[in-house]
Amino acid sequence: MTPWNPHSWQRFPAQQQPAYDDPSELEAALARLRRLPPLVVPEEVERLRGLLADAASGRRFLLQGGDCAEQFKDCTPEAIEGKLRVLLQMSVVLAHGGRRPVVRIGRIAGQFAKPRSKPTETVQGRELPSYRGDLVNGLEASEAARRADPGRLLEAYFHASATLNHLRALAAGGFADLHHPERWELPGETGSVPAYRRTLDQVRESLDFLEALGGVQREALERIDFFTSHEALLLPYEEALTRWVGGASAYYNLGAHTLWIGERTRQLDGAHVEYLRGIRNPLGVKVGPSATPEHLADLLAKLDPDREPGRLTLITRFGAAKIQEALPPLLKAVQATGHPVLWSCDPMHGNGVSVQVGLSPEQEAEGHRAKGVAQRASRTMREVKTRDFGAILSELRQAFEIHRAHRSHLGGVHIELTGEPVTECTGGSENLSEADLAKAYETGCDPRLNGTQSLEMAFLIAEMMRG
Ligand code: PEP
Ligand code: CO
Repeated sequence: MTPWNPHSWQRFPAQQQPAYDDPSELEAALARLRRLPPLVVPEEVERLRGLLADAASGRRFLLQGGDCAEQFKDCTPEAIEGKLRVLLQMSVVLAHGGRRPVVRIGRIAGQFAKPRSKPTETVQGRELPSYRGDLVNGLEASEAARRADPGRLLEAYFHASATLNHLRALAAGGFADLHHPERWELPGETGSVPAYRRTLDQVRESLDFLEALGGVQREALERIDFFTSHEALLLPYEEALTRWVGGASAYYNLGAHTLWIGERTRQLDGAHVEYLRGIRNPLGVKVGPSATPEHLADLLAKLDPDREPGRLTLITRFGAAKIQEALPPLLKAVQATGHPVLWSCDPMHGNGVSVQVGLSPEQEAEGHRAKGVAQRASRTMREVKTRDFGAILSELRQAFEIHRAHRSHLGGVHIELTGEPVTECTGGSENLSEADLAKAYETGCDPRLNGTQSLEMAFLIAEMMRG
């Protein structure tokens, strides 16, 4: 293989990169970014590698989740606390029900760039450059907002650092302490509430018992591990956050603990794979129906030549209707290579469907987002993406079963969710229908499970973990 350096990706074809109209403006932003302090430190990255190695061998379970796309305007204490809370609640349910410690990774503090299937999209009858995430351009439906703006690279860095700062303060300040019931309150009164209350009571009792025996330190319970991740999509940004760490004699991306590449950017000879292969961070690769056994084997050889546990997480995302056919050949191919990968299931991205919802004029004016206005009068019909709770659950169930049938195990899940009471995915115990979607459809990109649906899903996953 050719020698690697943080900019060697530039010699390879790069998918999904925006066209910046002023190279000097881009270079000025990148130069500033290169001088700014890292967001995470190598020791944390190494610690995560160790935890993921445990998950790969079945001793832990990975919960990775958060927004499809974070937006700068949602960098608020409520939204950040909401996401942390729902991930913590889910992790308690998973650890308790699934009998394994849980590694928590947020799609947070940097999940600002989105791959798009087309370079332009039609919004309110106008053709505009596609929205590529706040790291690149604005969601607002105007030519000016949709321009690829290099100033956003710095804005993204500062929003990521504000988010991470708040997460770190919450984690250090006892946000996760189970003895503070107010921090564990629920998104709403729903079907999983009694089970959740029972779980919390049981967990608290066990902890009190251990504490009484002197078996655990109170501080150890109050502190939590929480890691950050995002899709490594906009390569100039990722390159600028790549730093040489002398003590480890290695390059790390210090903009997040772990990065993944998406279904659209995992070409073997593409720039994204080239970039990822040279950094020490644990890596994720999304694997969808178009992946062949040969492609996957070649990718593993390139991204994990030393077969290191914790290095690679394969995040499958086939859809409930396709996983039965698609997963087994890939599973066998990976087993044949002997790579100790961690298998995770993303039951979201293969289960999207488009539906028509009635939007009020205010919602229409917001572009392709729909915000909660319950007025029925003068609605226009608009197409939005949704996912059904039942389909998400079905893909997860099948994933657990297929892994078991092949003497493999599913070691994690990757979920798009939010703590806010949005109405973006149908189904669940609140039984959201397509007609309910317009009430609070707020995502800047894909539909997310709301807090209630997420918690309910966690109970069901915990059951599947027990087999
Ligand atoms: C995503 O995770 O938001 C995403 C775009 O996924 P994928 O690459 O699997 O389509
Ligand atoms: Co998404």
